[in-house]
Amino acid sequence: MLFMCHQMAMKKEAEQKLKAEELRRAQGAATDIPIIWILGGPGCGKGTQCAKIVEKYGFTHLSSGDLLRNEVASGSDKGRKLQAIMASGGLVSNEEVLSLLNDAIVRAKGNSKGFLIDGYPREKNQGVEFEIRVAPADLALYFDCSEETMLQRILARAAAAAVQRADDNEKTIRQRLKTFKQNTNDILELYNEKTLTINAERDVDDIFLEVSQAIDCVLKKKAKQASAQC
Ligand code: AP5
Ligand code: MG
Repeated sequence: MLFMCHQMAMKKEAEQKLKAEELRRAQGAATDIPIIWILGGPGCGKGTQCAKIVEKYGFTHLSSGDLLRNEVASGSDKGRKLQAIMASGGLVSNEEVLSLLNDAIVRAKGNSKGFLIDGYPREKNQGVEFEIRVAPADLALYFDCSEETMLQRILARAAAAAVQRADDNEKTIRQRLKTFKQNTNDILELYNEKTLTINAERDVDDIFLEVSQAIDCVLKKKAKQASAQC
């Protein structure tokens, strides 16, 4: 029985993937610039590596967390609701995050060399919806890090910050870690083919070396695709 359920779930996922691909083709939504998802738990170094990628490749960095914090900073009613969810360490609704990301992508599209989508997807349906409504991701970089390292990194960041993030306290960090753990295996399983797992317990520059190699590879592939279309 359990085996049958698993088979059915796998079949449903495959169908969803196919549907996404068909819809995207029909919409002509594929982009000729790279779209890279940046995955990993709280404090694994997503933002740090994105800053280095921006410096080297000039890509557009869109952090779902930053977009949400901007909304909170606006002081709107919506912002207050978002703040409560983020302070609890939970996930904001898929619709909310995807619509913020989509708007930002549309705004930047004409002038961008590539998109880094930092902190997204955090739940597998987010990935499916993104590929239907925006475009397929070319690569997912997953920064693999132990919970203890992530906790210590965030606590150190909080101690050094002039203005501390509302969710950078031990209680919320532990909840963020829990939320991350609940969702990540499903994402890694679904996007296994396009995910590169990187050991994020190393020095920032060593990690970046591996990141750069992966991005160079994507750029080459994109250039090949573009020349094949001419
Ligand atoms: P978000 O803002 O994305 O936070 P996070 O995922 O918890 O990750 P952080 O930004 O805290 O860490 P990071 O991985 O960027 O690490 P950093 O480079 O800063 O999301 C916040 C909240 O928004 C979520 O909890 C959720 O509520 C909501 N949300 C966001 N996206 C959502 C989505 N898609 N769906 C629903 N809700 C969503 O590094 C951390 C520290 O470590 C720094 O001090 C850095 O200097 C240091 N460091 C980095 N790398 C290294 C290294 N290699 N060695 C030593 N130190 C390092
Ligand atoms: Mg970050």
